[in-house]
Amino acid sequence: MYLSEELIPRRWYNILPDLPKPLPPPINPQTGEPISPQDLSILFPKEILEQELSLNTFIDIPDEVIEIYRLWRPTPLIRAKRFEKLLKTPAKIFFKYEGISPTGSHKVNTSVPQAFYNIREGVERLTTETGAGQWGSALAFATKIYGVRLTVYMVKVSYYQKPYRKTLMKLWGAEVIPSPSERTSFGKRILEEDPNNPGSLGIAISEAIEDAVTHEDTKYSLGSVLNHVILHQTVIGLEAIKQMELLDQTPDYVIGCVGGGSNFAGLAFPFYRLKKKGLLPSLKIIAAESTASPSLTYGDYRYDYGDTAGMTPKLKMHTLGHKHVPAPIHAGGLRYHGAAPTVSLLREEGFIEARAYNQLEVFKVAKLFAETEGIVPAPETAHAIKAAYDIALDAKRHGEEKTILFNFSGHGLLDLQAYEEYIEDKLQPYEYNSG
Ligand SMILES: Cc1ncc(COP(=O)(O)O)c(C=O)c1O
Repeated sequence: MYLSEELIPRRWYNILPDLPKPLPPPINPQTGEPISPQDLSILFPKEILEQELSLNTFIDIPDEVIEIYRLWRPTPLIRAKRFEKLLKTPAKIFFKYEGISPTGSHKVNTSVPQAFYNIREGVERLTTETGAGQWGSALAFATKIYGVRLTVYMVKVSYYQKPYRKTLMKLWGAEVIPSPSERTSFGKRILEEDPNNPGSLGIAISEAIEDAVTHEDTKYSLGSVLNHVILHQTVIGLEAIKQMELLDQTPDYVIGCVGGGSNFAGLAFPFYRLKKKGLLPSLKIIAAESTASPSLTYGDYRYDYGDTAGMTPKLKMHTLGHKHVPAPIHAGGLRYHGAAPTVSLLREEGFIEARAYNQLEVFKVAKLFAETEGIVPAPETAHAIKAAYDIALDAKRHGEEKTILFNFSGHGLLDLQAYEEYIEDKLQPYEYNSG
């Protein structure tokens, strides 16, 4: 189901005023007090900070951003009929296909407005971190469009294992540095302790922040977790609501995989709004995580740092602890130690269910999906497909005609090494040891 360009949403949906409780504020670790917008202005431009704290339900999308969204939005909503047939399930399975974007994932939905707001405020350079390179390539694309320079700290193990997203970033003009690096004092400290440190998202975030705060013309950009990032991703759910309406379908389940939570929330939050209004009373919202970093399934709900060095404000979220070292699974985007504060709050209040899967069971289902629907899912996305698969089989056992909608956050055509290892039987499952 394709929508015409005129139906690209004109406003993003902001969940903050609709949360069941006020969102606990980020805390300044030095003072123990809630953080002020002033404290954060060294990292983010003014308009982004306003969005981070806004209590308006809808926020206008600038025309300049819609013009770029037009390159891939609206994204299609597809019924996975051949996958359903394989499972012999009475359930209907729909997916919102974000893999159609220029970089192959949902991440450009936020990289474009973030680059736009920065250039509008005269910022000359951005820094960021990336794991497998989905976020880094999305921001490289956006900064190229608006003419901002970009430095990406890429988790070292991925820098060498996933060379092609690095190539994409360079193609769009970004400087890509394997992290931990000699560029920052934090990186140097880590390398002194262990010259072979493979890096992590938490370390790369610390380096990107240090680089931004020590250069005046530079700000920092984050690809998940924060409210403004999730706000930008709600174009996914807003479009999906229209598409499901046009197909005369009502979802019983809305599913997304969760790293920091942005694609999950981007699809689920606009549906949560309808549920809150009493329009979708039986809707279940499911977060699919990796057993390597199951923050919503096993993490505590408490204040924690967003990075390893403890440079960020503390956020109230489900977390495995900012020192958590995740197993080297292929779904690099799901290795984060925490989850977005908004997603965590909804989980804590019982509005969201979380399920964690290991990568062996996930790749098994991803292969079935690729065989039937022809699209190779990103390893991250495969977690959402696994959740949909389990629910569809459950519906079969109970003879129920459930309607399932999941977010297809990205394609896996640059993750073929992972599929190679799966086919060659070389993957480890990596279960989380909660005890
Ligand atoms: C394809 C894909 N899906 C999901 C994620 C997880 O991130 P988030 O939870 O912010 O959507 C990533 C992160 O890199 C990704 O690349």
